[in-house]
Amino acid sequence: MFYKTSDHHGMKHNPFKALVSPRPIGWISTQSTDGELNLAPFSFFNAMAESPPVLAMAFTGNHIEGGAKDSLSNIRETGEFVVNMVTYELRDAMNASSEMVGRAVNEFELAGLTPVPSEIVKPPRVKESPVNMECKLLQVIDLPTSNPEVPNIMVLGQAHAIHISDDIITDGMVDMSKYHPLARLGYRDYTAVMDVFSLDRPDQARQDRTHR
Ligand SMILES: Cc1cc2nc3c(=O)[nH]c(=O)nc-3n(C[C@H](O)[C@H](O)[C@H](O)COP(=O)(O)O)c2cc1C
Repeated sequence: MFYKTSDHHGMKHNPFKALVSPRPIGWISTQSTDGELNLAPFSFFNAMAESPPVLAMAFTGNHIEGGAKDSLSNIRETGEFVVNMVTYELRDAMNASSEMVGRAVNEFELAGLTPVPSEIVKPPRVKESPVNMECKLLQVIDLPTSNPEVPNIMVLGQAHAIHISDDIITDGMVDMSKYHPLARLGYRDYTAVMDVFSLDRPDQARQDRTHR
């Protein structure tokens, strides 16, 4: 099949998110200037650069009470956020924290999670998550939207500090067989990394042969 994205795709649901999958999930903790805590998952999310580490995420639509989603408002207000990574074991807590609830609701409490102080930013991190990246805002970018009532807004942030639980480290490397990062597919589907294979890049394989 073929469709122009300016036309209707003709399928039961928009296939785009199923096509670009799996997408990692950034579980973003923020704090308002009044000190209210907020936590929500975002799968329009990924790493954009390594050194220094830069992360990107995108907010679509608005809060049920109107205005921007709480995470975006807090990031704009304070310039700080923490990206907590979601694992298979944390899937239900992540899902609970995605509920569109009133602004005053603290999703840490809603999902039964423990906020612990960060080292260099104000928003706390999720204790139960094995990876927390303390970030400062770099840029907010308005993306095109096909419906002016549903804005698409991208946020770029730089990770200035990273916590990794010793539980997922083996011989100085992150061990995927212990980490099990969760990712979003299309529709209501998810996957988790449970097995891994390696590939040498052609130039690396060539180097190995010459040094043999
Ligand atoms: C797995 C998952 C991924 C999500 N990804 C996004 C996303 O990329 N962008 C977005 O705006 N909302 C996304 N959502 C919905 C938000 O988590 C939801 O709107 C949340 O209530 C926003 O909370 P906030 O107002 O506290 O920021 C996702 C939800 C789930 C369960």
